[in-house]
Amino acid sequence: NEQQLILAIETSCDETAMAVIKNGREILSNVVASQIESHKRFGGVVPEIASRHHIEQITVVLEETLKQANITMEDVDAIAVTEGPGLVGALLIGVSAAKALAFAHQKPLIGIHHIAGHIYANRLIKEFEFPLLSLVVSGGHTELILMNEHGQFDVIGETRDDAAGEAYDKVAKTLKLPYPGGPQIDRLAQDGEEVFQFTRALINEDTYDFSFSGLKTAVMNTLHNAEQREEEISPEDMAASFQASVVDVLVTKTYRAVKEFGVKQLMVAGGVAANQGLRRALDKKFAEEDVEVLIPPLHLCTDNAAMIGAAASIAYEEGHRAELDLNANPSLRL
Ligand code: KG4
Ligand code: ZN
Repeated sequence: NEQQLILAIETSCDETAMAVIKNGREILSNVVASQIESHKRFGGVVPEIASRHHIEQITVVLEETLKQANITMEDVDAIAVTEGPGLVGALLIGVSAAKALAFAHQKPLIGIHHIAGHIYANRLIKEFEFPLLSLVVSGGHTELILMNEHGQFDVIGETRDDAAGEAYDKVAKTLKLPYPGGPQIDRLAQDGEEVFQFTRALINEDTYDFSFSGLKTAVMNTLHNAEQREEEISPEDMAASFQASVVDVLVTKTYRAVKEFGVKQLMVAGGVAANQGLRRALDKKFAEEDVEVLIPPLHLCTDNAAMIGAAASIAYEEGHRAELDLNANPSLRL
């Protein structure tokens, strides 16, 4: 048949997500059951709770996803699933569901790397032009990835400690903001000033690697010292100062890599791509440059299965198939 329909499943963290993607670029349905409310009171994702929610949600989400796409399992050409990285118990629910569906309906099975998914979220917006650079910034990842062709990922830089989103969430916690902290800090930062000049780790060094744990510690020390001196610190200014440092490092390194590798497209991916400060800074930095900057809409930046389906479409065409012994791999390499 001429059209290619992929059913994609993503359960690597705290979203139970499924989608149907037509011909790699068209979303027929994209369902995300978020667990944020259940994890909020613990200040972060509790793996055991995440797994249990996935089990409860997965068949409901499947039915809804097929219904919204107006198809049945028989119409599906292949089943794609995030095999890693992520929480092992959470990944296992999606992988088990995908294998059961592939076996029951005799469909090909495709394992997808979560980060490949985040990058391919952009292909739901725009066709890729190589070479392209992807800045992947999420709760678990901060990476600069160069692609010269489909399915080929060259990690030219990555964080040496905390991921950008992780730093956001940790700093938010010290400011006593609810989980997930990234959007909260982003919101506060809009009303603050860069009163504190925090370090920009590795910014001028000859590496595309990142480091955010020193910044996190600097924020904590500043808050702690103020508390000891019984001084008030404006959460808005603290958020703005922290965000200025993160955004400056991300944009500076990305710009340097865009120049060095002569990339045609820059795509931002992962939950932190939702950040207003980052979006504005990138728009400004690249306004006069001969590179196309792509940032997916918010619902495609955070975890979803449409992006997994988009990545799987190319993998399917290239003949990649997983066997029924496919296993969840919490530390899968790209
Ligand atoms: O990609 P994602 O949904 O899940 C992972 O694969 O990690 O990213 C979640 C991360 C969290 O750390 C969250 O705080 C962060 O993305 N995030 C943000 C914003 N929205 C989500 N960080 C900064 N600003 C935002 N607006
Ligand atoms: Zn993610």
